[in-house]
Amino acid sequence: MSSKATNTSPVNPQIDDAGHLRHFLTIEGLSKTQLMKLLDAASVFIGANSERRREQANLLIGHTVVNLFFEDSTRTRTTFEIAAKRLGAAVINLNPSRMSTRKGETVLDTVRTLEAMDTDIFVVRDSASGTAHLIARHVPPHVHIINAGDGRHAHPTQAMLDMYTIRERKGEISNLTFAIVGDILHSRVARSQIAALKILGAREVRVIAPATLLPTEVERLGVKAFTDIDEGLKDVDVVMMLRLQLERMEGQLIPSTQEYFRCYGLNQARLDRAAPDAVVMHPGPMNRGLEIASDVADSERSLILSQVTNGIAVRMAIMAQLVGAQGLQEIGAT
Ligand code: CP
Repeated sequence: MSSKATNTSPVNPQIDDAGHLRHFLTIEGLSKTQLMKLLDAASVFIGANSERRREQANLLIGHTVVNLFFEDSTRTRTTFEIAAKRLGAAVINLNPSRMSTRKGETVLDTVRTLEAMDTDIFVVRDSASGTAHLIARHVPPHVHIINAGDGRHAHPTQAMLDMYTIRERKGEISNLTFAIVGDILHSRVARSQIAALKILGAREVRVIAPATLLPTEVERLGVKAFTDIDEGLKDVDVVMMLRLQLERMEGQLIPSTQEYFRCYGLNQARLDRAAPDAVVMHPGPMNRGLEIASDVADSERSLILSQVTNGIAVRMAIMAQLVGAQGLQEIGAT
């Protein structure tokens, strides 16, 4: 059972009335201080020696984490499981193809059923935007909801591990220019990345995509939009590639996948237009030869596997802070 049990703020449903993070649903509405606190806590989990590892393994003892993934996932689900186990929690992974939602039970009744088994944290992924928010509005104060990706809306823990990875490799985010490239229209990752980069004070955030894959509101997010990748990549410090989300596309938004790679795929020649020490990121799963060339994905400038590794520490920090785990201060993670 969580050590905190308060109501959420009417202004921001993620924050409780004592100002603590209660759920982790979206980056929007969080402060720079709150994001930095999570990133600093994650660095404690990354650098842990064996003694610290033993201390960390007590932080969520007695807690239960349920991974409720109604949409496919490899890295998010697995890193949440590893993170929760490293903190000492019991972890349950539910398989939607074997669940009673298939017999007509609603998601909220499923959550209530699991709550009755003393679940403390639900990690939720769904193809519908807003599912994690809906659940968060209906759980009692001691239960915490983490959004592991909802439709096109948000993927806040991905954005946090991306921020961690950038800081680790490139230092201060405020000194850097970013290009987010690809299917911006359907990307919950892009939305959360843009929100995090703006809050952390990135020098400049660009988005690069064909006009059909740019949302109409994109410039209102405070980014510069480019349809020419060679122009958009000029002198950027960080290139953040996105997967082409063919499964979310309605109608034909690109002429063909070959044409897309020819016009928007990241290859070495295009990367050469970025700053000489620019790095390349991709949230995964990546499609080699569709949005990114293999030699770029596997190059020394690629941070793609570091993103995966850092996901464990970032998710440990988020879960531990949500439940207000006793012992966080002692290990320097508050
Ligand atoms: N980045 C990401 O969400 O990957 P998965 O779909 O494998 O979890």
